Amino acid sequence: MLVHHSPTARLWLLRAATSSYAVRIGDDDTPRQVHWGRPMTLEQAETIPAGAEELIGEGGLATPSLQVRHADGGRGVDWRFDGHEIDGGHLRLHLSDRHYPLAVTLHYRVREDSDAIERHVTLRHTGDSAGDGAGHGAGGSTGDRSGHGPLTITRLDSAAWGLPVLPDYRLSHVSGAWGGEFRVRRGRAAIGETVLTSRAGHTGHHANPWLMADDGSATEERGEVWSAALAWSGSWRITFGRDHEGLAGWSGGFGHEGVTLTLAPGEEIGTPVFAGVYSAEGFGGASRRWHDHIRRHVLKFRDTQPVIFNSWEATEFDISQDRQLELAERAAAMGVELFVVDDGWFGGRTSDERGLGDWWPNPGRFPDGLDPMIKAVGDLGMAFGIWVEPEMVNPDSDLYRAHPDWVHHLPHRERTTQRNQLVLDFSRDDVAAWAHGWLDALAAKVAFLKWDFNRPITQAADEAWIPHVRNVYAILDRLRADHPHLRIEACAGGGGRADLGILARTDQVWTSDNTDAAERIAIQHGFGQIYPARAMGAWVTDSPNAISARPAPLRLRFHVAMAGHLGIGGNLMAWSDDDLAAGAELVALYKDIRPVVHDGDQYRLGTRGVQYIHGERVVVLRWQPSGLDRSAVPLRLAGLEPGARYRDVDSGRTHHGAVLMAHGLPLPMWPFDGVSDLVRLIREDSP
Ligand code: DGJ
Repeated sequence: MLVHHSPTARLWLLRAATSSYAVRIGDDDTPRQVHWGRPMTLEQAETIPAGAEELIGEGGLATPSLQVRHADGGRGVDWRFDGHEIDGGHLRLHLSDRHYPLAVTLHYRVREDSDAIERHVTLRHTGDSAGDGAGHGAGGSTGDRSGHGPLTITRLDSAAWGLPVLPDYRLSHVSGAWGGEFRVRRGRAAIGETVLTSRAGHTGHHANPWLMADDGSATEERGEVWSAALAWSGSWRITFGRDHEGLAGWSGGFGHEGVTLTLAPGEEIGTPVFAGVYSAEGFGGASRRWHDHIRRHVLKFRDTQPVIFNSWEATEFDISQDRQLELAERAAAMGVELFVVDDGWFGGRTSDERGLGDWWPNPGRFPDGLDPMIKAVGDLGMAFGIWVEPEMVNPDSDLYRAHPDWVHHLPHRERTTQRNQLVLDFSRDDVAAWAHGWLDALAAKVAFLKWDFNRPITQAADEAWIPHVRNVYAILDRLRADHPHLRIEACAGGGGRADLGILARTDQVWTSDNTDAAERIAIQHGFGQIYPARAMGAWVTDSPNAISARPAPLRLRFHVAMAGHLGIGGNLMAWSDDDLAAGAELVALYKDIRPVVHDGDQYRLGTRGVQYIHGERVVVLRWQPSGLDRSAVPLRLAGLEPGARYRDVDSGRTHHGAVLMAHGLPLPMWPFDGVSDLVRLIREDSP
């Protein structure tokens, strides 16, 4: 059983794969967390006093999870518990306000094969427009005292998560910027509040909606770690709080401060899922639990991720069918399985100044449309994919000239552009229908869409922020349902839209526009804290790198990209014959290790390497971008069977699992810059 209930204690115990969560309805009918951590029985949980609120109300010291203003100016909530429902691993706790027409359901979902506890909230205005209080007490005789007018919501989080009272807490999260996403930050939690947020209308480059907390002693493979990640691709906020008495926890959900939602009588709003994972096996254990959960229950497809070629760095806006076909021939010879034409194929889009929004093939570049190109790529044995940026428009476009009112804007304010573009208001059903129309026609022809988003939303009306994201989700869901063959890559100027919400509708994320191998090691290290390797787009590009100007050997560029979902993003027309041949060999090697990387358990070996275990197969990728970093510290492997032997497929040497974990792989002499290698091991026998 996944959900256990004690009616006398008004307590529910949720059992996830290796952890438990318990919640109790307190004497005042407020739902409170009792336990989140190591496995627990119902009987044991009954002895634990109730702790933090499951949805922090107004009036306390912590940042509220729920802030509502009623029609008569009244605020906050006074809960009455209305009952519960259990449906397999889904628990619903129903609450309503004792005075105002407001009802809330707290949702919890657990599964046997996952440690994620998925939580969200639905909130209903239970009054009716005719003024019937539907059983709720009337508050007075004047005006709208019964609260039947609209409800104003200034904050509606998906969940609050409490932590055990411990002397200290440390927080881990990521920060970044364009070209430098997902940098891990780990530091002591302030006594006070730490806010992680995006106000950009998309997930954001500068922060990502997850966090991990530990007592300061957890390591990569040991210690207790509590973590949570939000399934939302718009603005969001997570507030971590810790006080003098040692109380600690966080609350999080969609939206940013200052944006209010209005709920009319009879209306309901649901929040995105905010999932929590507890690990007693350190940060690596937390990450593996997330990877597993995302692969099993978030991503829709588990089939083989194709090796991609993407034209962006090779040609940028200088696109023509002939040039693309030359690249396609070289990509096919290298073993690429999916050829993707990036920006610049449509309308008047010959630079980032014009054409965005005009989604028909540029007649000068693709005189007979896309069909000949798709056919030629197919004849080369590759699937065909294409770049789109549906939510954006250049003012210099036919679309904007025809529909200037279709963009997000505010009255009396100049429409500010970034990268020469404005954001279409996808909260409008007519705009969403237009986008779905052309995307649906395109999806019938192509195997893959790269869905980009290259500027933040800065000027939207309050009521537009959340429906914009919901309509993007609805379009993606519809495209997936109607075109089962279609695969989608999420991109926002690199890794600005990576979260559990977008991953439920796409297959991968373009991790960063920064493809410098040395910098990618840090970026990928941060991405992989939560998100799995199969969803991490990683290209091999040219040397010196287009962003950093740093040269890097081909093997290092491949070995770093082989730690995720491999793509080739360089200008193959400029590659030497030797590099093309070496590239083909490395692509073939990658196809061999792909199931281990994509479906295996990942162990980070510091930042000097990464290891994957899948069944009896083990893959280690290790790298040393700079000779100055050369370290005599051995790279100790993890997660092996100590009593088993492991054969190196390439050298034929056999190693003991216990020795590999205690003393590491024999170290090569690596005095130079840019060295790396790939080690493939097979477990030969088990003890
Ligand atoms: C930003 C993306 O991250 C790049 O890969 C590329 O698609 C450009 N946009 C195209 O404008």
